[in-house]
Amino acid sequence: MMDSLRTFNVSLSPIPVTLFELVFVAVCTVFIYLLYAVLFQPTNRVRKLEDVGYISDQSSSKKEVADSTQRRRVVGEIPPVYPNGWFGLFESFQLKKAEAKYINVLGLHLAVFRDENGNVHALDAYCPHLGANLAVGGKVTGSCLSCPFHGWRFRGEDGKCVHIPYNETVPEFAKVKSWPVMEVNEWVYLWHHAEGEEPSWKPPEMLRLSKGEWTYRGRTEHMINAHIQEIPENGADLAHLDCVHVSFIGSGTDLRYIWSKAWSFVKHNWTAKWESFDPPEGHVGQLSLTHAIKVFGMSFPLLDLSVKAKQIGPGFVYLDIEGVFGKGVIIHNVLPVGPLMQKVVHNIYVERKMPTFIAKFYMLGEAIQVERDIMIWNNKRYVNKPVFVKSREDTFINRHRRWYSQFYSENSPRLTSEKNKTLEW
Ligand code: FES
Ligand SMILES: [Fe+2]
Repeated sequence: MMDSLRTFNVSLSPIPVTLFELVFVAVCTVFIYLLYAVLFQPTNRVRKLEDVGYISDQSSSKKEVADSTQRRRVVGEIPPVYPNGWFGLFESFQLKKAEAKYINVLGLHLAVFRDENGNVHALDAYCPHLGANLAVGGKVTGSCLSCPFHGWRFRGEDGKCVHIPYNETVPEFAKVKSWPVMEVNEWVYLWHHAEGEEPSWKPPEMLRLSKGEWTYRGRTEHMINAHIQEIPENGADLAHLDCVHVSFIGSGTDLRYIWSKAWSFVKHNWTAKWESFDPPEGHVGQLSLTHAIKVFGMSFPLLDLSVKAKQIGPGFVYLDIEGVFGKGVIIHNVLPVGPLMQKVVHNIYVERKMPTFIAKFYMLGEAIQVERDIMIWNNKRYVNKPVFVKSREDTFINRHRRWYSQFYSENSPRLTSEKNKTLEW
């Protein structure tokens, strides 16, 4: 045994490694990782309110500028702040099994939880017993959520209290309000209606996603200081395309610099129209868009895209995109986290044959264009009675406003009533 070991005992002399070689290997490793990230990892572009759309100066931080702009700006005569409809609360991956989360949106305080069977429920967050927040330390058991304070247990499906640890019976009136929720297209949606009406329509399921035919390629997340209606109205505002979205995305998101000469040889070209549908699709509006790139005035068909952006109700848009590299969808969800504060999330899914970096490029292009809009939204006021000219362009905005008004009802919350609810105002 020892002999055979000795036979294979090769003496190794140390290989000298220079500092240069070490640095070279380190640089290569970083480069390969970056290349891998760019080519294969899904995008995750998250921007806080102060990151986009404000002009900061030497004397104030970005946060200070965002705060003071928000405080000082003229709001205008705005519609109600929380429309009726379905709103995306969470992306499905954000709510794990047996997890509860507190969320304050649409003027509501909600405990949203995924039960042990995987179903999602939304209850009013404050416990009727002594007011603890059910989602802050509450425990998910079966399909119920137990209060962290004294253990009252509430059923997800209807909010009824089914167990009080120190009492044999549970009174009928011990319950919290439960809210209609549904999970579709990898989002958790909540139905909000100021009059308490039941849902009159539902977010349509995209079978290409649920069957796994299309694959996830990333997300972006932005906070926007504007009335919710301003955001979908952008889809019917055709005239702004030539001012905000024509200059090439390489020139960035700051509207002061997007016309830089360095990028003047390449331009985005848009044609667009907006339409609404008749019942039972009355809650759907559609922007049809074609996008082309012109380099020195000549077409560059590799980046041509046709887009059908379906605005479904007040809170989300499904953008079907089709180009040379295949088809995909961008899901756009707007969630009012305050009367004049919106959280906007985009997710992209594409056919498997489409290279990841192409899908990521589409997502980046979309994000840059949205960030230009944000610079307008964060600084504008809402104009209730706009000065319009008799043009095709302005007509669409009027039509969109009439269409969107279906999502408000008599009791829809207004800015003044919302201001009095918390200490924040
Ligand atoms: S406050 Fe919830 S059980 Fe007491
Ligand atoms: Fe826009």
